[in-house]
Amino acid sequence: MKVGIIGCGNISEIYFKCQNIYNNFEIVACADIKLEAAKENAEKFNLKFQSVENLLSNNEIDLIINLTIPSAHKEITINSLKAGKHCFSEKPLAMNFAEGNEIQEISKQKNLYVGCAPDTFLGAAGQKARALIDENKIGNIVLGTFNLMNHGMEHWHPNPDFFFKPGAGPVFDVGVYFITHLVNLIGPVKTISATSVTANEERTITSELRNGEKIKVETPTTLIGTLGFTNNAKIQFFCSWDVWKHQHSTIELYGLNGSMILPDPNFFSGDILVANKDKDWQLINNDNMLLGIPNMTDNDGSKIANYRGIGLSDMIDSIKNQRQARCSLALSMHVLEVMEGIIKSAEKEEVYNLKTKPSQPEFFDENEIRKLKK
Ligand SMILES: NC(=O)c1ccc[n+]([C@@H]2O[C@H](COP(=O)([O-])OP(=O)(O)OC[C@H]3O[C@@H](n4cnc5c(N)ncnc54)[C@H](O)[C@@H]3O)[C@@H](O)[C@H]2O)c1
Repeated sequence: MKVGIIGCGNISEIYFKCQNIYNNFEIVACADIKLEAAKENAEKFNLKFQSVENLLSNNEIDLIINLTIPSAHKEITINSLKAGKHCFSEKPLAMNFAEGNEIQEISKQKNLYVGCAPDTFLGAAGQKARALIDENKIGNIVLGTFNLMNHGMEHWHPNPDFFFKPGAGPVFDVGVYFITHLVNLIGPVKTISATSVTANEERTITSELRNGEKIKVETPTTLIGTLGFTNNAKIQFFCSWDVWKHQHSTIELYGLNGSMILPDPNFFSGDILVANKDKDWQLINNDNMLLGIPNMTDNDGSKIANYRGIGLSDMIDSIKNQRQARCSLALSMHVLEVMEGIIKSAEKEEVYNLKTKPSQPEFFDENEIRKLKK
């Protein structure tokens, strides 16, 4: 499939490069509201750059990858559909559930696919954990916790303002990985009860260029609560940008016959710990799985597995075979509703009941992954 990218910022490099990993698409052109950014990437990756308008009317292109900022996601995704093209968007699908509904409506009308990141749950750790749960390794999951805590973005990001505005904050920006992982592992969420804290009404930028400038905080920087899943599991969450240090692990799941500790869902690989009843922890390494083999060096020099683009490749395969994609619109609509539901529950101090109820994504077999890789 011939693909075009709109949005040539920070995350675009990994998408330009991922066409070297997967065999079912080719990126032929790119665009950005800043023409210079598109030009620079076009030269680097040896493809055409166009204005956003011209890329959308380019007949050679069947699918758009939307890598713009969250506030532009809805507009670019809808314009792609209106131009007769499928669209795969970076997370979140949109700024709120109402915008998501507009996307869903047009996707149905046009009979075109929309998919959405994150796709890290398709990685080695996510799929190994899914296999262990499906095999009943620790029994039915009844309880769990997830923790995402640090002190925000203003110390490293050059323009951190948007992180503290509606549509961002710790749940929309990072919680999205945790929630998507959990829906993949145990199915959809049914109820939410949450509370919020904003420790500082103002944040001071300490990253270089704008050091000392202030940001007005307009969305809660801590959200704490419980997700009730349709399988009746209750998962307690703590999402915060108000914590300097802590010693919680990322995701822990407790089943009737044991416990499981998962690695950071922002990554494709990582060890899983499993313990049956009161037996010792057993470490499960996934580095030899297809989407766990280290293929990249991180900023600190460590080797990591980064297979971003697998969700897109799976979606292209699903279009060909007329099946539901794993990073489906139904899944991302549900995750969007959960994220908005957390904020609403905290604002109104009441339980939020979910309207969406997608099916769990299909387990991703190594043989299916092999077919998509070069
Ligand atoms: N940077 C990361 O590490 C990372 C990781 C995972 C996901 N994401 C997601 O990817 C998306 C992009 O993030 P980023 O860090 O690359 O942001 P960025 O600000 O570096 O890049 C976004 C690009 O989109 C362009 N753009 C904005 N509005 C546009 C419009 N209306 N039309 C055309 N181009 C437009 C901007 O000019 C910019 O070049 C976000 O949704 C983010 O949540 C980023």
